[in-house]
Amino acid sequence: MTNNKHPILVFGATGRQGGSVAKALLKAGWPVRALVQETSKAAALQLQAEGAELVQGSFENIDVIRSAMQGAYGVFSVFPGNLTAENEVRYGISIADIAAETGIKHFVYSSGASVGNQYTGIPRFDAKPRIEAHVRRLDMVTTIIRPMIFMEMLVRPGFGLEKGRLISLIRPEHSIQLTAAEDIGKFLVAILADKSRFNSAILKIASDRLTGCELEATLSKAAGYPITYERFSDDVLATSADLAHMAKSLENGPLSELIDLEAMREINPELLTFASWLATFGRNALNEALSPSVL
Ligand SMILES: NC(=O)c1ccc[n+]([C@@H]2O[C@H](COP(=O)([O-])OP(=O)(O)OC[C@H]3O[C@@H](n4cnc5c(N)ncnc54)[C@H](OP(=O)(O)O)[C@@H]3O)[C@@H](O)[C@H]2O)c1
Repeated sequence: MTNNKHPILVFGATGRQGGSVAKALLKAGWPVRALVQETSKAAALQLQAEGAELVQGSFENIDVIRSAMQGAYGVFSVFPGNLTAENEVRYGISIADIAAETGIKHFVYSSGASVGNQYTGIPRFDAKPRIEAHVRRLDMVTTIIRPMIFMEMLVRPGFGLEKGRLISLIRPEHSIQLTAAEDIGKFLVAILADKSRFNSAILKIASDRLTGCELEATLSKAAGYPITYERFSDDVLATSADLAHMAKSLENGPLSELIDLEAMREINPELLTFASWLATFGRNALNEALSPSVL
């Protein structure tokens, strides 16, 4: 059941996840209040044109955030990937605390599916579990979502597609679970409509699952010519702690835990497959990644 009087405050609304959430909530009839850094930015103006109320501010502006939460029903909290671990944790905790103090009825924090149940000791990998632990302790209805790797990550320029190859992190016979950012908004609509079902839930979100071989077939069909799949060599993985961490997590860590896609579809009946995403929302990104001009 949606509440047509009280808005949802959406952070990151000019970005991938927040944008998906703001758009889906507006479509479902929720009033949306979006905290944006620049009200004149094209993505912010687009949101306003679609009916969102814009509040200018940043994660640092505690007073602006407190006032933006007044009268709101829910909050969608997400942080960009380029923050320092210290800032991510600081913002994550302060926004959740303000929500609890302000009497927000349903707080949703978007974490990440690479979060495991144990700390790694590496600050940037531990920022999200630390925020999650804090959110779970608050006296407020909370839901944590953990999206899997975004589909966009596989169609970025520079990962071989322009040469008819995709180089990524899984072995060809293994599978990777992917999330379409566009699905996240639809999950939020379902979550906010059913507080009792999703209270205290930690929901891993995936839209599709494909092996390296299936990635090859799906991308070849979308491109209209053969794309071959290969895994980064161990030597390349050894040069990047982040890539190595992700590869390990995909092989036998949190990113390898199988998500029940039928259960996902029950919550979001419009779940996108990788093929349907490539044909629609991902088409431009795919064309760009295939283009030799990026070389
Ligand atoms: N990549 C993956 O596969 C994956 C998978 C699961 C989870 N994640 C997680 O997803 C998160 C990123 O989400 P996203 O992809 O939606 O991010 P995004 O597209 O980069 O968007 C970030 C949003 O945050 C806003 N923002 C940046 N700095 C701000 C500040 N100081 N104050 C207020 N707003 C600020 C940006 O606004 P402006 O437009 O003004 O800059 C933008 O709206 C990361 O934490 C990442 O770890 C990633």
